[in-house]
Amino acid sequence: MCGIVGILGTEPVAEDLIDALKRLEYRGYDSAGVSTVENGVLGRCRAKGKLKNLQKALNEAPLQGHAGIGHTRWATHGAPNVTNAHPHMTDRVAVVHNGIIENFKPLRERLEKEGAKFETDTDTEVIVHLISLELKKGSAPEQAVQAVLTQLEGAFALAIIFAGHDDLMIGARRGSPLAIGYGEKEMYLGSDAIALAPFTDRVAYLEDGDWVRLSRTSATIIDERGQEVERTINRSTASAMLVDKGNHRHFMAKEIHQQPEVIGHTLGHYVDLATNRVQIPDFDIDFKTLPRLTISACGTAYYAGLVAKYWFEKYARLPVEIDVASEMRYREAPMEPGGLALFISQSGETADTLAVLRYCRAQKQHVAAIVNVTESTIARESDATLPTLAGPEIGVASTKAFTCQLTVLACLAIKAGVERGHISIEQEMELVSQLVEVPRHISTILNDEHLFEKMAHGLAHKRDVLYLGRGSSFPIALEGALKLKEISYIHAEGYAAGELKHGPIALIDEDVPVVVVAPKDNLFEKTVSNMEEVAARGGQIILMTDDKEAAASFTTSSSFVVPRAHEFTNPLVFAVPIQLLAYHTAVFMGTDVDQPRNLAKSVTVE
Ligand code: AGP
Repeated sequence: MCGIVGILGTEPVAEDLIDALKRLEYRGYDSAGVSTVENGVLGRCRAKGKLKNLQKALNEAPLQGHAGIGHTRWATHGAPNVTNAHPHMTDRVAVVHNGIIENFKPLRERLEKEGAKFETDTDTEVIVHLISLELKKGSAPEQAVQAVLTQLEGAFALAIIFAGHDDLMIGARRGSPLAIGYGEKEMYLGSDAIALAPFTDRVAYLEDGDWVRLSRTSATIIDERGQEVERTINRSTASAMLVDKGNHRHFMAKEIHQQPEVIGHTLGHYVDLATNRVQIPDFDIDFKTLPRLTISACGTAYYAGLVAKYWFEKYARLPVEIDVASEMRYREAPMEPGGLALFISQSGETADTLAVLRYCRAQKQHVAAIVNVTESTIARESDATLPTLAGPEIGVASTKAFTCQLTVLACLAIKAGVERGHISIEQEMELVSQLVEVPRHISTILNDEHLFEKMAHGLAHKRDVLYLGRGSSFPIALEGALKLKEISYIHAEGYAAGELKHGPIALIDEDVPVVVVAPKDNLFEKTVSNMEEVAARGGQIILMTDDKEAAASFTTSSSFVVPRAHEFTNPLVFAVPIQLLAYHTAVFMGTDVDQPRNLAKSVTVE
């Protein structure tokens, strides 16, 4: 998603704006730009591609203003080029925007009829022309912005500076997050606390409908009713350190290798390692009387929820409804009051997931969220927040956040089972002890990472790949397919193995690799039958299993044996080989592993 920064500084801000934008690179972008006010005149510098291109352009044409805004653009409307890069401006005002102005077409038509000359194909440009019109009518900047915000439909986070005003910056938020940073005689705006970390740890988040008038020494926040309000100033925990790749080639590789450590950290937060009992801090939902659990998320986070559905239903006998947020938000699902709605989101800013959270709250559900960013909007709008202690996840393809989400969900399912009388203390201790073993199992797998380099060659340049799994391995098959397609651009599809004969088997031939996720559990023999159906048609099988004999006895193009774990923890263990397979395939194919084309780390638009 786009990244926004703004600085009212005491010296030239252009370099600091770029430094802040570097902390938002993880969100994914395709162009960038900055604008400053210098002696009352707006200046601008933009570039296509990465920030190094913007830095080069700035070196050639420096900006000296002490008030400025910056932006990394993930194109929604208009090609990713310099013309469409933010900031957008007229001679009176410059704007950077994250979100989508859904009524930009009628606004643009009206403005063009009134003589406005548009330069870009973006939705954002209507904002600068609308504000300029208000300013021409004699409105002060604040009045101009207020008048324009009421005309906009859709989602936005805005940072705005004005010609002739060196000590003024206005921010506004509806749907896309925006934070105020409080400095010493300086003020900041940013998409999140990470962007502001180099300057301040005193951060307040605007609520939907808020706008703020900033000077270097003041912040006046107005809510959607036009009332002046206060928003809590928090001490941000975001590190000022630029997260680096360590000795890894990509952030994704580093984050895959961090999993033993961060799963351990997460377990330490949710279990008492001395007694092997689950303990969920600040979570007072009584599972015993809970009528229903609803889970909603997107992408990889949704697959974590799918695994959890198997756990809650098997170990806690708790009915679970789960759906992708982009569908659930429009389904108007009837909900009995008093249920629990659980949201899973690495970024805590995914627009679709947030929309479902607000729907469920309106349906009188208790709301809890499993997030990796505890200062995020989804966390702040939940009754209970369950953090994944994965640390910043920079790679767009989610890995360590996924296995930490599974860790939290596993602990929650055990708690539910104990409270609902379906898990004894002894069983709880056994399941927790199995979870405690997971980091060691993953370390063992990572020690054999080199085997995936060769295995990846079998997938590279293929047109289609199928992933199959049964039971709680089915969501792992789905996740494997997502990982492969999103970083290698190979079309891949995850399927319930039992569904193969109901259609997908028509795809099978010697050119379609089939990755089978098959732990030696109660469904193993049935999955072997599916593998035989594939082999009989010349399909090339890549088998992921925990059974050495099976791997040796079955004709496969390749196989990988993971350490034998427990049916409860298999999803966590089998997540890692499918991550490594996707990663090495993408590396072999030379794609941008950390920032794959067209993708963003945090999807804050619908
Ligand atoms: C995962 O590899 C993808 N990058 C994507 O599907 C992601 O999981 C999804 O957009 C949800 O993001 P969230 O967890 O931040 O809500």
